[in-house]
Amino acid sequence: MPLKGQSVGFIGGGVMAEALISGLIKSELITAENIFVSDPDTERLMLLKEKNGVNTVENNIELVKSASILIMAVKPQVIDEVLSEIKAHINKNHWVITFAAGITTGHIENHLGEIPVVRVMTNTACLVSAGASALACGSYAAAEHAEICQEIFKSVGKVVTVKEELLDAVTGLSGSGPAYMYVIMEALIDAGVRVGLPRKIATELTVQTMLGAARMVMETGRHPGRLKDMVTTPGGTTAAGMYELEDGGLRVTLMNAVMAATEQSKRISERLK
Ligand SMILES: NC(=O)c1ccc[n+]([C@@H]2O[C@H](COP(=O)([O-])OP(=O)(O)OC[C@H]3O[C@@H](n4cnc5c(N)ncnc54)[C@H](OP(=O)(O)O)[C@@H]3O)[C@@H](O)[C@H]2O)c1
Repeated sequence: MPLKGQSVGFIGGGVMAEALISGLIKSELITAENIFVSDPDTERLMLLKEKNGVNTVENNIELVKSASILIMAVKPQVIDEVLSEIKAHINKNHWVITFAAGITTGHIENHLGEIPVVRVMTNTACLVSAGASALACGSYAAAEHAEICQEIFKSVGKVVTVKEELLDAVTGLSGSGPAYMYVIMEALIDAGVRVGLPRKIATELTVQTMLGAARMVMETGRHPGRLKDMVTTPGGTTAAGMYELEDGGLRVTLMNAVMAATEQSKRISERLK
């Protein structure tokens, strides 16, 4: 069941919804006339309509009447209010994609009944079509639902499939990961300034180095450790820098960050149950 020809409804027209709408239209997976959006902010709706040509509807009930694939693009705190509002209007053609942090497929099934639900943990880089997303199926979702959800999130980056119990780990790694990378980049830029580079130049070099390293891993398919060894000559400059990274505990600090974020994600999920 491909996405083409289906109707997609975004409940919430915020930052993530806009990124997905623009990715979907650019990738020609679906036309704007098959996309519907609801949001309490009418100015926001007008903007989305002007920019992307999508249909905007007055409320979430109208949205459920217009679309079969319902994308929950609201903050986790408003999910229950939305589910109670739409429950009576759900029929067997509907299914749900949710990417609200901490909201499980079981939570949505408990509210809406035996409905296919696919849950996604994505990240902010969707905004520049370089998102890292992981999806997990609920009890009633079939392969075709997962396939469509993959198509949607591929339009804004990479997608993998995992068991739902691993989504907290995904949150700890790639969900929170952009912030870790920003801090590493900021530190490198400051370091460049410390050794005498103008900030603008230090920033350009740092960002390109980060991007280049990511592309080297992706495009060569080589293990990062091997790529690191290839540029670390005996007694050289990189070896001197690497020693300091090890001495400062960079690896264990990053591991601790991912573990702490994973545990925090589990705690938040528990609270939202
Ligand atoms: N942004 C990210 O990088 C990112 C990454 C991963 C996951 N997520 C998840 O994606 C979801 C959306 O995030 P976002 O950044 O797009 O948030 P956002 O920009 O705040 O968008 C949410 C939109 O939903 C609207 N809304 C509020 N109550 C509503 C209701 N009852 N019915 C319909 N719409 C309603 C909000 O309107 P008002 O502003 O007027 O309240 C807002 O326009 C969240 O659950 C978040 O956890 C976001």
